[in-house]
Amino acid sequence: MKKPAILGGSPAFDQLLPINQPTLPKVDDLTAELTDIFNSGMLTNARYVKRFENECADYLEVKNAVAVSCCTSGLLLSLKLLGLKGEVIVPSFTFPATVHALLWNNLKPVFVDCDPETFNIDPHEVEKKITPQTCAIMLVYIFGNPPQLDRLTSIAAKHHLKMISDAAHALGVKYHGKFAGNFADAEVFSLAPTKLVVAGEGGIVATNNDQLAADLKIARDYGNPGNYNTRFIGLNARMSEMHALLAGKCLTKLEESINTRYKLVDLYKSRLQKLPGISFQKIEANARTSYNYFSVLVDEEIFGLNNDQLSAALKPENIMTRKYFYPPVHEQDAYKDYYQQYQDQLPATAWVCKRICCLPLFTHLPEEKVIKVCEAIERIYENRVQVKGQIG
Ligand SMILES: Cc1ncc(COP(=O)(O)O)c(C=O)c1O
Repeated sequence: MKKPAILGGSPAFDQLLPINQPTLPKVDDLTAELTDIFNSGMLTNARYVKRFENECADYLEVKNAVAVSCCTSGLLLSLKLLGLKGEVIVPSFTFPATVHALLWNNLKPVFVDCDPETFNIDPHEVEKKITPQTCAIMLVYIFGNPPQLDRLTSIAAKHHLKMISDAAHALGVKYHGKFAGNFADAEVFSLAPTKLVVAGEGGIVATNNDQLAADLKIARDYGNPGNYNTRFIGLNARMSEMHALLAGKCLTKLEESINTRYKLVDLYKSRLQKLPGISFQKIEANARTSYNYFSVLVDEEIFGLNNDQLSAALKPENIMTRKYFYPPVHEQDAYKDYYQQYQDQLPATAWVCKRICCLPLFTHLPEEKVIKVCEAIERIYENRVQVKGQIG
């Protein structure tokens, strides 16, 4: 077997293999409709946005899909319009925008631990954190994996709490056969370049609450109901026609994209499961994830290297990795006021953060490249003692 690049072998790839890449339609497939948009002179929030909203609502089997400028703005506005006040239960193992949206609304985040197998919010822990001040549960579909939505919805109903989802990774995700978008009061998807459906920048709020959907359409336009007599303090969170056109094209390929990712992940798992100390995010049998990211957990005691050392050894192979989500939100500088309170309170979050490593995965990633990544990890494992010595 050849040596790992970190020990002087040739790299697995000549050029950097990114962790993620948008899978886009051909430019030629957009030109006729782009010309139509340009000729119309209506560049934002017009026919193509409406068409995309209808396509999303039909696909998700949800009453309303409201297009916004990004997931973060969708979360900000949904929280505001639900009229929440007080504490919101939220994971710390997430992207910071999840929690930022609470702070922008003067809501108090109450961090809850994750499940070490699914990385999702743990319903048992959620129940323990409910106080008379709790107004909502904010859940996240981590890497697209749905949390235990049946238990979370019944906890929310029992305690009269609102539920809002950061569904940034979850377009096309299903739980018990039902699409994400139908579980919480508002479920907000991202259409940023790292997602399966890409607008460039964009988001979709799915809701079965007609009033909320109507208010969101006003809120994304500064709070303007149409006569510029603003009804409340909104934002400019509109989607442009060009973004909606691109996202609509990607949406038609979403089912295919999820199926492809399942195949690529099966391939990854079939190779990597043979390596001692490597394990995977658990996806429940009744769930369909999007595999927005493919993560492994690296157990240093068994694998011989920790996640940072594995990443350091993959770098000279030209294989990009990411430690999503590290640091957990309560350890980030912006949350220093929360750190002390939570530092020993979230053991599963700390456990996952110490082990997590995301590997390259995108829809047009060729299978040969997945195999090359696996071979590089196998070489690193075979030479783990020398690799560790080299990294120091
Ligand atoms: C879990 C999660 N929430 C929210 C966001 C923010 O999404 P956007 O960039 O569309 O605002 C991201 C971005 O990747 C994310 O991963």
